[in-house]
Amino acid sequence: MKLFIDTANIEEIKEINQWGILDGVTTNPSLIAKEGGVEFEDVIASITEIVSGPISAEVIGTTTEEMVEEGKRLAAIADNIVVKIPLIPSGLNAVSQLSAEGIKTNVTLVFSANQALLAAKAGATYVSPFIGRLDDIGSEGVDILEDIVDIFYTYDLNTEVISASIRHPQHVLESARVGADIATIPYDVFKKMVVHPKTDEGLEKFLADWEQRE
Ligand code: E4P
Repeated sequence: MKLFIDTANIEEIKEINQWGILDGVTTNPSLIAKEGGVEFEDVIASITEIVSGPISAEVIGTTTEEMVEEGKRLAAIADNIVVKIPLIPSGLNAVSQLSAEGIKTNVTLVFSANQALLAAKAGATYVSPFIGRLDDIGSEGVDILEDIVDIFYTYDLNTEVISASIRHPQHVLESARVGADIATIPYDVFKKMVVHPKTDEGLEKFLADWEQRE
């Protein structure tokens, strides 16, 4: 499974990228806004200088024309840009047009398997079901993720499934278990995934024993 980081914070991206495990980055308008006073396209350009894998940058427009125009502008920033498009009817049309021009797309705000199927049919490179937000409203986010993975496998659809809106390490584990192609993981969840008290305890003991050697 590929691991993306879900952030627009340059320092967070640099730190996790140094682990040598990062396959890509996803951003969204809320994550960019959180960085405060930064130019959207400048942040995206900076990220492309750090990570060579796919970098998702989301459009703000909601008509097909706006999304296609913005998508082309974003895609021109670097070869590894993926244009993130919301799953609305005008968005499906934008995905069809952008994919016909060879521009990669990530269809976002996906909350059902039917929406994911439509995105794949429109030619999306990636779909992003939001498992955490589904859990928030009492649905089983991972069950919907699993349905999408199964359907894409059954029909041999090329669209890759990004498990998104991940809230904790268990979400990453469950996404891996059901066969998501990618998990896009917030910085704090990466930091939780890497630690285990028995690792720290074991290392401390190894080093103490080494110091005691004869
Ligand atoms: C994915 O691409 C989205 O940016 C993200 O995972 C949304 O997560 P949230 O529900 O924590 O905002």
